[in-house]
Amino acid sequence: MRDINELQTIEHDVLVVGAGGAGLRAAIEASRLGLSTGVIMKSLLGKAHTVMAEGGMAAALGNVDDRDNWKVHFRDTMRGGKFLNVWRMAEIHAKDAPERVRELEDWGAVFDRTRDGLINQRNFGGHRFPRLAHVGDRTGLELIRTLQDAGVHNGIDFHMECIGVDLALDGGRVAGMLAYWRDTGRFVLFKAPAVIFATGGAGKAWRVTSNSWEYTGDGFGMAYRAGAELMDMEFNQFHPTGMVWPPSVRGTLVTEGVRGEGGILKNSEGVRFMFDNIPERFAAETADSVEEAARWLEGDRDARRPPELLTRDVVARAIRKEVKEGRGSPHGGAFLDIATQQPADFIKRKLPSMYHQFKELAEVDITAEPMEVGPTLHYYMGGIRVDAITQMTNVPGLFAAGECGTGLHGANRLGGNSLSDLIVFGARAGQGAKQYLDSLSGTPQPQGDHVNDLIDEVVGFLNREEGENPYVVVDDLQVAMEEHVGIVREGRELEEGIEKLAGLVERAKRVKAHPSSQYNPGWNTCIDLRNLLVSAEATARSALSRQESRGAHTRLDFEGEREDQLKYNNVVVQASDGSMDLRQEARPEPPEELARIAHASIEDLEANRV
Ligand code: FUM
Repeated sequence: MRDINELQTIEHDVLVVGAGGAGLRAAIEASRLGLSTGVIMKSLLGKAHTVMAEGGMAAALGNVDDRDNWKVHFRDTMRGGKFLNVWRMAEIHAKDAPERVRELEDWGAVFDRTRDGLINQRNFGGHRFPRLAHVGDRTGLELIRTLQDAGVHNGIDFHMECIGVDLALDGGRVAGMLAYWRDTGRFVLFKAPAVIFATGGAGKAWRVTSNSWEYTGDGFGMAYRAGAELMDMEFNQFHPTGMVWPPSVRGTLVTEGVRGEGGILKNSEGVRFMFDNIPERFAAETADSVEEAARWLEGDRDARRPPELLTRDVVARAIRKEVKEGRGSPHGGAFLDIATQQPADFIKRKLPSMYHQFKELAEVDITAEPMEVGPTLHYYMGGIRVDAITQMTNVPGLFAAGECGTGLHGANRLGGNSLSDLIVFGARAGQGAKQYLDSLSGTPQPQGDHVNDLIDEVVGFLNREEGENPYVVVDDLQVAMEEHVGIVREGRELEEGIEKLAGLVERAKRVKAHPSSQYNPGWNTCIDLRNLLVSAEATARSALSRQESRGAHTRLDFEGEREDQLKYNNVVVQASDGSMDLRQEARPEPPEELARIAHASIEDLEANRV
């Protein structure tokens, strides 16, 4: 047995895993509260899925429409999430977001401005008022740049290309984490009594995704193996507009900002099909008046809010329908046209990245031609279950924030609510860690046997004489998820998918990489596969268990939201004796004041009668 004292060891009060918006904001908070803070990240600083939230961050600043306030934002978020959201989180998010955005401005973020010099805000799907503070179509990038700058000057230690293997526990409490350096393959033991996961989602379980290689569900897998609960994993957001051509860039995000700035969707017959896809209930909830809702449903082209700005679940399903019914674009998508809606200089100014992205990757000039777009797996609404106030999980000392945590978005996230989620709950996780450490008795220590077992498990991939190629298993996983756990689901297909996943779990036990841990992407893939499979299985099994269609989870065999006891149940997954335990839990009743706001009429909210 190895002596774990001989491993490279790094000590922190708080270890943050992931350097996207949530991780950086959590680290800044922890560090400002006087805690020694380290951040590990799979790739390099600045490379995070946060940059794929291009169009903006939602906060009820009321700069463009002064009728906006936290209550309307809260109401929109709950309605978008089909009321499955954790009420307290939606409240905290709507209340805290404006302050967190202004704080970014203080730290040097350069936002687009209104004529009066205020932070400019744009329309996005499901938001009643223009609410997205933005920097052209590079908002996520600006957020990361600002937080990185602030973080570096806060004395945080950044450990790049460092990948978590698993948490180290002591009597069920977090004691740190075993990780390894991606280049050398050497192990490193982090000793830290508080660990904050900010690891993003598991988009790489699908083939067509806006996620890059890092997003293999590492936080989901590690939390699950440590005994944490995963909740509502069946809610996976397919962003309606990813690139569909050329194949090498299929899935790359095309920001909702294109539609926010006036872009419209058309099918191969030139029909603006979103007018035929407005759910009645949605029209009633979204339009300014009953009369407008009626006009909208009748196809009134002059309605104030274009139907392209319906929530993402609705738009993604509509595009899929056009393709299935033979009215898709040549490469299996729809046409997104801003060229006929806005002048070229406006497009280049408001959407510079999209202009360059299409020019360089697809040889399409979006100021003159339409883009071809289709749904792409973008985001996990479900994830690690956390306390609404502190962001701590059921594992003492383990926190989660951002996409890898769950609760804020319910069954469907509104675009722009992710960037605000990251900064609101990132900060809260840092505060939660401080509170936990202040009350901690003794310092939990990594246990030698456990750490040795972890090392043996992953070194095992290198030491096999024979074994399967991990890339083939990942490829088969992506095909299975695409086929069986896609944008619309059906019981029998899900069952078949779960069976295929069980086969992949067995195959993953036999994967092998060439026998050197240095510069070995094959070995990295073997390790990622453990997390991808936990994420995929939890997703597929939760999807089978939810026998209704709600938000981003559409069941062909269970149309519509259920009104019986399943309504507002959360699906919870947890490891139990080596197998995946799944249960339905009734969501607690909402606080009366919040329920009143969520169900209020917009007139009452605007007149401050609620
Ligand atoms: O379309 C976008 O710019 C993505 C934003 C988001 O996911 O919040």
